[in-house]
Amino acid sequence: SPPAIIAPSILSADFAALGAACSDLMEYNAHWIHIDVMDGHFVPNITFGAPVVTKIRSHVERPSQKGGKGTFDCHMMIAELMHSPWWLALTASMIGDTNIAQPMKWVKDFKDAGCDLYCFHYEAAISSVAAREPADTKTTRKTSPREVIRYIHECGLQAGIAIKPETPVDVLWEILESEDESERPDMVLVMTVHPGFGGQKFMASELPKVKALREKYPDLNIEVDGGLSEGTIDQAADAGANVIVAGSAVFGAKDPAEVISKLREAVEK
Ligand code: DX5
Ligand code: ZN
Repeated sequence: SPPAIIAPSILSADFAALGAACSDLMEYNAHWIHIDVMDGHFVPNITFGAPVVTKIRSHVERPSQKGGKGTFDCHMMIAELMHSPWWLALTASMIGDTNIAQPMKWVKDFKDAGCDLYCFHYEAAISSVAAREPADTKTTRKTSPREVIRYIHECGLQAGIAIKPETPVDVLWEILESEDESERPDMVLVMTVHPGFGGQKFMASELPKVKALREKYPDLNIEVDGGLSEGTIDQAADAGANVIVAGSAVFGAKDPAEVISKLREAVEK
């Protein structure tokens, strides 16, 4: 497997002191910062957008290489137009600026804000195309996540693709096997909770997805997110995950540095 990467989620940080929380994490030897962007539509919760990322970027040194220390790993839990009433979606597309699949919509803003890795949800990509294409062009739906990945790469970011617990891992094969390298993701995120909130119970039921991905792709960055702690890390590591998100386990700890190093050791052993 590729190297262990610990990516604490600042969803559990003190939002009034995010800059300090992020610089502390770097001192505690965290590798990436996991930034949960929620819009209140794709998930039933709202967090923050690009302006906040801009502000915290100045507290964390930019990575010196692709995927290096200080990588801002932005987990985009953002909705597609289809979740809007049809008349709103139609009006929006007529006035112009939303004539772009929703997961793509914020790529440039997040790039400018200092994001390094833009991880969108597969579920958001397929639905947004369904919303803007006529019903008889269903073939476009399948290629849509690949379009999103290509666009993220064109904008100069690394691309991640996330799947919710409801989504089977099989949808990813054709994306991972794309002939065009720019349509292949740099990372796959397997959610181990229903996205929306920190502090939920780890879903071991999702680990066969990780295992299947690792068997086929020994060098792929596979991220797990939700319910990771010293109590659940071994299962995730055994399945083959190498990028570990942890929110409440890190921020709820007396000694966050110790938790970070224990998580790393579990992946490395
Ligand atoms: C959930 C988020 C996670 C969350 C994890 O929707 O994607 O990143 O912060 O929190 P814990 O580690 O507390 O489950
Ligand atoms: Zn997340």
